[in-house]
Amino acid sequence: MTTMSPLIAGNWKMNGLTHSLDELSELARLLTTGEAPRALVVVCPPATLLAAVAAQGASSGIIAGGQDCHANASGAHTGDISAGMLADAGAQYVIVGHSERRNDHAETSDTVRAKAEAAIGSGLKPIICVGETESQRDAGEAESVVAGQLAASIPDAAEQHEVIVAYEPVWAIGTGRTPTLDEISQMHNAIRARLADRFGERGETIRILYGGSLKPQNAREILGVDNVNGGLVGGASLLAKDFYTIISAV
Ligand code: G3P
Repeated sequence: MTTMSPLIAGNWKMNGLTHSLDELSELARLLTTGEAPRALVVVCPPATLLAAVAAQGASSGIIAGGQDCHANASGAHTGDISAGMLADAGAQYVIVGHSERRNDHAETSDTVRAKAEAAIGSGLKPIICVGETESQRDAGEAESVVAGQLAASIPDAAEQHEVIVAYEPVWAIGTGRTPTLDEISQMHNAIRARLADRFGERGETIRILYGGSLKPQNAREILGVDNVNGGLVGGASLLAKDFYTIISAV
């Protein structure tokens, strides 16, 4: 049984223009006028809005995060962004190894580990994503796939530096489908066991977030599962009202 404060992160993905900052203002209003949230609140907007989210969120405790970073510190990588640049723009967290990056950009777990190392090197906390596809789950391989991703994606530096793991079953992302509470519990317990095996007591303190069709309607029961230490929210983080309901569910 772990007792760290929960963390709820919103991943806006490739959604968000300047007017989306109105939703951020509304979230800030809800967070500061309602009961103080138990959870740390992180918002990961597109890079174009990162500095604005960091500046605008600060007074309400909203923390900014990036959605990806390059493994290198600088250089000839057109279109990429380094961990140091994210930190410079005000980010404190960065998502690495999201399944959309693993699929769309053929990122391997080795790449993800290098990105997590770069994030740590720049003072960021990496949110390292893992998760099985539907066919892997159907084949009974979900736990072994996730175990392999964890082993290869989490850097040894997690012994001394904060990292967060996000379990996102690929088939639950943006589909409205979620695993059963038993399936979530089984996977999060399995992840906890792997982290404890590798990192000892420190492994007990690494947050394990659940992500994949987390909504106001299911947040309370999913976030109440043991070893679910928060959530990584896609679609439902785009509306302040919905995201606030999820934040308030822990
Ligand atoms: O990173 C969050 C994510 O992939 C889940 O997306 O829209 O299913 O909440 P969504």
